[in-house]
Amino acid sequence: MSDGRICMTRPDDWHLHLRDGAALQTTVPHSARCFRRAIVMPNLETPVTSVAAAAQYRARIAEQIPPGADFVPLMTLYLTDTLPVAEIDEAARTPWLAAVKYYPAGATTNSASGVTAIENTWPVLERMEQLDVPLLLHGEVNDAEIDIFDREAVFIDRILQPLVKRFPRLRLVLEHITTREAAQFVAEADARIGATITVHHLLFERSDMLAGGIRPHLYCLPVLKRDLHRKALRAAATSGKRRFFAGTDSAPHPVTQKESACGCAGVYSAPAALELYAEVFEQEQALDRLEGFVSFHGADFYGQERNSECIELVREPWSLPDWHDFSGDRVKPLRAGETVHWQVRDGQSGLARSNAS
Ligand code: DOR
Ligand code: ZN
Repeated sequence: MSDGRICMTRPDDWHLHLRDGAALQTTVPHSARCFRRAIVMPNLETPVTSVAAAAQYRARIAEQIPPGADFVPLMTLYLTDTLPVAEIDEAARTPWLAAVKYYPAGATTNSASGVTAIENTWPVLERMEQLDVPLLLHGEVNDAEIDIFDREAVFIDRILQPLVKRFPRLRLVLEHITTREAAQFVAEADARIGATITVHHLLFERSDMLAGGIRPHLYCLPVLKRDLHRKALRAAATSGKRRFFAGTDSAPHPVTQKESACGCAGVYSAPAALELYAEVFEQEQALDRLEGFVSFHGADFYGQERNSECIELVREPWSLPDWHDFSGDRVKPLRAGETVHWQVRDGQSGLARSNAS
C-alpha cells in the first residue's frame, strides 16, 4: 500500500441481505463486484428454515452472478422455536451452509418467526456446539420496556452472558455491533466469539440520522447510537484484533418503504461498502489494517481458506447514483449522489457505477 493505491486480498462480506426474486438482479452483482464470499442472511418473507430451502435460495442467487465473477454465497438457517435438530446434522454435512441465525421474534425485518425464548432452542444449540456450527446473533432484546438505544447492551447481560456460560464451546458471532459495551465484551471474550461491524455504524452516529431532519435511509437495526459508541467501534475495527471482521449488513428496501410514515430498517451499503470501509480506515490512519479486517479475520473465524486473488483500491473520487433499479421500484445506496473517495479498479462485474438512469 502506498500513494493512494492499495493492493490487497479480495475481501468477503460476513453479513449480507440479498433478498429474493427480482431483487437479486440488483443485489448479487453489487456484492459480487468486489466481495468473493458472503454470508447470506435467511430472513426472507418465508424464512429459510431448512437446508433444502437454503439450497434452492442459493441456486436463485447463483443465477444472478455476473459471468466471470467468482462469488460464493455461504448460506444460513433461520433459527425458530421449533427448528428440528436434524437440520443441524444436515447443515454440518453441507459445506456451503455456514451458520444458523438467531433473531429475537419481532426485533427486525422478517423476524416474526424468530425465537420467542432462548430456552426453546437449547437442544438445537447443544447440537450446534457438538458439530461446531456457529450461531450468529442479532444481539438485541425485543422488549417494549427496554429503550431502543439500550437493547443491545441489555441483550449482552440477559441473553449473551448466560449463553456463553451454558455452551462453552459454541462459536458465536455478535452481528453488527453498535455499542462500546459490545465491542468490549467481544474484545475480552475467548476466541470462539467474534463480531461483525458494518460500515454505516463506523461512519454515522444517531445525530446524523436525526438532527436537522430525519434521514430514513440511515435507519437500521440495531439503531445508530451516540458518537462515543461509533468511536469505540472504530477503535475495535482498526485494532487489528482478529475477532472483529467486516459484515456490511447491507439490507435493501424499496425507497417507498424507507420514505414512509413507518419506514423499514436497513441501509443498502453494498454498492460502495469496501470503498467506504477504506475511507474509515484512512481517517483512522489504519489503512495497513484494512486487509485483516475485510479479508482475513472473518475467513479465519469461519475456518475458511483466505482468498488468494487480489483486488486494487485506488484513491480516485467517483459518485454513487441517486438510486438503483430494485425489483420494479428503486433503492437508495448509502452515499447516494455523493462522492466516494476510493474505488475498486476492475471490479468483477463492472456494475460499480451503472444502473443509474
Ligand atoms: O437494519 C436492519 N435491516 N437490521 C436487521 O437486523 C435486518 C435488516 C433487514 O433485513 O432489513
Ligand atoms: Zn442483518
